[in-house]
Amino acid sequence: MKVFVTGGLGYIGSHTVVSLIEAGHDVVIADALYNSSESVLQRLEKLTGKSIPFYRIDITDHDSLSGIFDDHSIDAVIHFAAYKAVGESQVKPLMYYRNNLFGMITLLEVMKEKGVHRLVFSSSATVYGDLTESPIPETAPLKAANVYGKTKLMCEDIIRDYAATDSEASFAILRYFNPVGAHESGIIGELPNGIPNNLMPYITQVANGIRDHLTVFGNDYDTPDGTGVRDYIHVVDLADGHTAVLKKLEKENGVFTYNLGCGRGYSVLEVINAFERQNGIEIRYEIGPRRSGDIATCFSDPSKAERELGWKAERNIDDMCRDSWRWQQYASEHNL
Ligand code: UFG
Repeated sequence: MKVFVTGGLGYIGSHTVVSLIEAGHDVVIADALYNSSESVLQRLEKLTGKSIPFYRIDITDHDSLSGIFDDHSIDAVIHFAAYKAVGESQVKPLMYYRNNLFGMITLLEVMKEKGVHRLVFSSSATVYGDLTESPIPETAPLKAANVYGKTKLMCEDIIRDYAATDSEASFAILRYFNPVGAHESGIIGELPNGIPNNLMPYITQVANGIRDHLTVFGNDYDTPDGTGVRDYIHVVDLADGHTAVLKKLEKENGVFTYNLGCGRGYSVLEVINAFERQNGIEIRYEIGPRRSGDIATCFSDPSKAERELGWKAERNIDDMCRDSWRWQQYASEHNL
């Protein structure tokens, strides 16, 4: 298939491009380079040995988007392009609503005009809000606790409402748990803007001396060691989940929703220990207060994806720590 990937130079988008090309698909990328750079394209081309058509456009720009569908006969769209920082979304709600919602609507309008009926949407476990019971199945109640999460939930609603009007729609909503790690080659990975919010990029920056120490946000949670428990998933497994769901969309109409996670949780201290063991580097840390909005435990029930897509995460926490560190070293060496 020819697959149009919005946000294809971002963290999850770029790994998905590799997975798609490895599976024999042709890929067209659009990216506004808000959270990425054109050097990712060069590295993707090096990694895959393919020349990949790229458009630097804003996803809310109807005419530019439409032009891409005129240039290429698109069979399916994977929509990653969106703002994603929880804290920033609370400070700049209009920017988040405009980009994430208007981008989604514009994309669906263009797909409708051009007669494209397959879509994979990049959602998040954040749509389960502060649900206190894990494992979380796809049928759990939905409730977003911040602006970023609300945009994901609203996009899911937009997709479901629009699909109800298109009998040919084959749409998938993928809810990611905590993506970490990087491609085994070490030449693509996550590049946080400024001080990382997320645990793994913070750990890798402490490991190579960019940050002095990690602050563990609370050790008084109701978990085995008191620190927060999350369902970390290797980004290459996550990327392969997109390729797997496309197979289903090739054959079936409807709206399908899947959790993409490993189905087990690791605490912050377990992640630190795994990183130290795997890479032989000590991670300095201090216990600090809880971070507002955090919950004790969050992990997926990923069994629906395994049953219906034949997909499950293959890589373990050691792989995640090894590949995150390999990528951090590459990024530092190349001043990325
Ligand atoms: N943590 C620390 N110190 C840090 C960073 C994180 O102790 O410096 C802890 C957190 O308290 C949490 C765990 O590490 O217990 C994971 O935190 P992350 O920020 O890496 O991930 P979250 O689970 O908080 O957030 C992720 C995604 C969000 C998404 C959210 C809810 O990054 O985009 O899951 O699904 F909204």
